[in-house]
Amino acid sequence: MRRVTTKRELRAALTAGNNERRVLVPTMGALHAGHAALLRQARELAGSEGVVVASVFLNPTQFDNAGDLSAYPRTPEEDVNLCAECGVDILFMPEPQEMYRADRSLCVEETQLSRVLCGASRPGHFAGVCLVVSKLFNLVQPTDAIFGKKDYQQLAILRRMVRDLDFPIVLHGADIVREKDGLAVSSRNVRLTPEHRAAAPAIYASLLAAAESFARGASPVQVSGVVRAALERLHGVRVDYAELVDAETLQPYAAGSSRPALLAVAAWFGEVRLIDNIELPLLS
Ligand code: PAF
Repeated sequence: MRRVTTKRELRAALTAGNNERRVLVPTMGALHAGHAALLRQARELAGSEGVVVASVFLNPTQFDNAGDLSAYPRTPEEDVNLCAECGVDILFMPEPQEMYRADRSLCVEETQLSRVLCGASRPGHFAGVCLVVSKLFNLVQPTDAIFGKKDYQQLAILRRMVRDLDFPIVLHGADIVREKDGLAVSSRNVRLTPEHRAAAPAIYASLLAAAESFARGASPVQVSGVVRAALERLHGVRVDYAELVDAETLQPYAAGSSRPALLAVAAWFGEVRLIDNIELPLLS
């Protein structure tokens, strides 16, 4: 594995390799089992002839609050080791000044899907994601890129960006990796109190119960109500949103629609905001 920190080194590393299939996995570091699954999927997709590029960059432009950015976990040594173990060929770890000029004046903003769900409470967050991912796409010029479905809204917005800006890149969504008790793996889980960690599997359990009610023909309000009711009953938990939406447009799901649906939830467990979701199969 080659580890590079500048754009120039990245360019040199990319021209040295076989360029037929180049698979990019962008990350912000603090890598865990969910990232390992993305990296392994990338290795499989690239095959032995292709190139897997991972980036570890804690992107300042997607944080709406400086406290969150400084509290974000950083584990650079472990990240390097995990990338090597998962078969990454090139690891790009730039510093913020390598990625952003002090007088940068351009933004990449998606204006529909980013207004709802997490976007409603995190203004500017998805514009920061689109900016850094479009820069990484230009720098790496991958044929494929992989993003986790845990951040389903991010993936939907990036699909829209690729479509509307004509990036010649195939995006792949990777399934959510879960702990044995169903909690979606996240770097935030370690910040939960023991009480909230014990309660947190209720998120996925409520999504499964809601999926059953969807399959039985419950209305969108009833379906999201199953999640809301299960979580609001828990001590110290506040639901930010629980919504049944169209899986592509993220707009509220119309009762009787025949399009794929997504049930998405965000909830505060004390000081920690957890998100999760489930894709709902079409009703036959
Ligand atoms: O999902 C993430 O970790 C980040 O939002 C991403 C896609 C790496 C952009 O900084």
